[in-house]
Amino acid sequence: MNQGKVTEILTKYQADESALIAILQDIQEEYSYLPKSVLVQVSKELNVPLSRVLSLATFFKAFSLKPKGKHPVHVCLGTACHVRGAQRVLEKFERELGIKSGETSADQEFSLDAVRCVGCCGLAPVVQVGEEVHGKITQTKVAGVIKKYKQ
Ligand code: FES
Repeated sequence: MNQGKVTEILTKYQADESALIAILQDIQEEYSYLPKSVLVQVSKELNVPLSRVLSLATFFKAFSLKPKGKHPVHVCLGTACHVRGAQRVLEKFERELGIKSGETSADQEFSLDAVRCVGCCGLAPVVQVGEEVHGKITQTKVAGVIKKYKQ
C-alpha cells in the first residue's frame, strides 16, 4: 500500500477526526476498498481507536473491506429495475461470472453487487460497470456486457 497517498489524504483534511467519513471515502476511491493496513494507519494518525474506524467502515454500505474487481458491476435492484426483471439479470451475471452478489472473481477482474436506484430509471433495468451505465439490460445481453470488459 502507498502510505504516502494515505498521508496526503489525511493532510487534506488536516488529520481532523470529524472528517473521518470523508477520509474513508477518499481512501475507498483511491483503492476501491478499505485495506485493513490503511485503516490501522488512519487510526494511529488520527489517534482514534481502530474499533471506531472499523465500526464506521462496516456501518456504511458504500464502504467495502474486501478488494473489488477491476470492473465493479452494479446491478440495480431499485423498484423500476426490479419490476423489469433486474433480479433475473443479477442471477445471469452470477452464473456468467461464477460469483455471487457481493463477491469478486478469483482473477480480480470483476466484482458484483446489487445496488438501489442509480438514477437512470427510464433505462431500467440498469447495470453500471465502473462509471459506464448500460440500460435496458436483459439476460441475453449480459454475456455481451461482460465480454466488453474482458481482456
Ligand atoms: S430503479 Fe434502477 S435506476 Fe432507478
